[in-house]
Amino acid sequence: MCGIVGYVGPKDGVGIVLDGLRRLEYRGYDSAGISAVRDHTLDSVRAVGKLKALEAKLTSAPIHGSPVIGHTRWATHGVPSEANAHPHTDDALAIAVVHNGIIENYLELGAMLRATGVQFRSETDTEVIAHLIRHYYRGDLFAAVTRALQDVRGAYAFGIVSKDDPGVLIAARNGSPLVIGVGDNEHYIASDATALIKYTRRVMYLDDGQAAEIRADRTAIHDLNGKLQSLEVKTVDWDLAMAEKGGYPHFMLKEIHEQPEVIRNVLRGRVAANGADVALDDIKLAPEILVKCPRIFIVACGTAWHSGLIGKRLIESIAKVPVEVDIASEFRYRDLLLPPGSVVIPVTQSGETADTLEALRAARRAGATILSLVNVQGSTIARESNAVLPLRAGIEMGVASTKAYTAMVAAFALLAIHLGRLRGSLAPEAAGALLSDFLRIPDKIAACLANQRTILECASDPRFRDAASALFLGRAYNYPTALEGALKLKEISYIHAEGYGAGEMKHGPIALVTDKLPSVFIAPQSATRDKIVSNMQEVRARNGVILAIATEGDAGIAAHAEKVVYIPPCLEPLSPLLTTIPLQLLAYHISVNRGCDVDQPRNLAKSVTVE
Ligand code: AGP
Repeated sequence: MCGIVGYVGPKDGVGIVLDGLRRLEYRGYDSAGISAVRDHTLDSVRAVGKLKALEAKLTSAPIHGSPVIGHTRWATHGVPSEANAHPHTDDALAIAVVHNGIIENYLELGAMLRATGVQFRSETDTEVIAHLIRHYYRGDLFAAVTRALQDVRGAYAFGIVSKDDPGVLIAARNGSPLVIGVGDNEHYIASDATALIKYTRRVMYLDDGQAAEIRADRTAIHDLNGKLQSLEVKTVDWDLAMAEKGGYPHFMLKEIHEQPEVIRNVLRGRVAANGADVALDDIKLAPEILVKCPRIFIVACGTAWHSGLIGKRLIESIAKVPVEVDIASEFRYRDLLLPPGSVVIPVTQSGETADTLEALRAARRAGATILSLVNVQGSTIARESNAVLPLRAGIEMGVASTKAYTAMVAAFALLAIHLGRLRGSLAPEAAGALLSDFLRIPDKIAACLANQRTILECASDPRFRDAASALFLGRAYNYPTALEGALKLKEISYIHAEGYGAGEMKHGPIALVTDKLPSVFIAPQSATRDKIVSNMQEVRARNGVILAIATEGDAGIAAHAEKVVYIPPCLEPLSPLLTTIPLQLLAYHISVNRGCDVDQPRNLAKSVTVE
């Protein structure tokens, strides 16, 4: 949802800001722009399309300077065009602003400014901020910004520079993420720390309602009433290699292949020496809260929500605690009847998803304890939670989430075993059996990754590759896998796909089945395997084309499917960690074969920071 980068210091900041934008391009990529201050001049360059277009313009007409701000855009107000690209400037072309978020009262502010003679040049909600700062400017940029922000309603992260205040970079935040990077006699700002790790790992996370006046050698942070604030400098433990492709053609493929290591990381140090207990010391939550909680509520969006659906099954069957799962954007608009002692679990890769954050805040207001499953340390959701179970998936750059998803499912499995043991609803022998199978999952994922022949065949088979639509069907633990498989295909190949409970198919979707509609059945060894085979027969009887995901040794299944991908055997509750791998690969290879942009699919952004 738009990426912001800024630099102030002794170097020419243009290359640094461009480099940061490259790492943030996953947040939005419909246009980009950059502004640099040099010798009391302000130069701006903007371009429609991906960052490459901006880089090409800068190569033919370079700009230089410090401070510098840059932006990569995901359009909310106004089409992707050069006029709507950031930075936006005031009438005097003195002040430049980059923004991530939505200004809710921009029409009202715009009307007030138009009445003073201001001419607007874009359709965005952001431009009003540049004019508003100019309106209040009396020779001190920071004072003008903080005054202007008192008039603004909505969500924002801003980076602001002015030719009349050289050496000053202003940052402000309310509802959209922003970090300040601390260098050696230089400072940076960015929407997330991944943009900065090449330059510094020392960061300060700006809080809502704070604005910072940043110079090369110092930073002063104030609230909007001018009160000085202090922020701790934290060290990010991700390294640069995590933000690079490491020889893979796409981030998504790299991240798919990282999953064995990710699950090892999720498990590392968390299986107790007795092999029957889970040590989740990093949660930092009083065990009584988990022992006594009468009900758990999981809230998340998209892929994270799919992990939550699996989390519900795991927690209910292993720990015997009732669980409700909500799409975060729906949760906050329902009457929240949370029994006292309830625990709410927001699940999120980015930790910045606006819908999930607002669901968290609604749950807090309703008195719940918040235990989040979060990948990005220091993110807003991590900071606003009572406790966090870190996902340890490392930086995920591909817009289509893969490794963060399996990390979420694995974290739910650990949490379910932990709860079951704490509450006495899971016997040590049963916990031991689950955990010993769990420890073998990374090698089994590696085996799934090594076995891509059938997936590659399907991905180049016109019946799958050129399909207009596809069905993904599964039951029980793998019903959410069906939803996730369909979402992956939709997101990156633009093939319409529906995920359904396989038993539900006969209640409607079967009407779609012809020889032109491929179906993917997720049918590993499980309590419902035979029922799924019956559903496969129903599709075959109507000339449907079937790809089945089944367990090695299931000789019977091949008679009911065109193609079968076999996964290693495992306990049913852990099976989504394996069945999802061929579905990720299928979506990936179909997307490549259709010539789609795998890592930056159209209309999407990785981190959705607007509601
Ligand atoms: C997944 O492939 C998505 N692009 C999307 O559904 C994502 O999972 C969702 O926006 C939630 O993001 P979060 O995990 O960062 O909160």
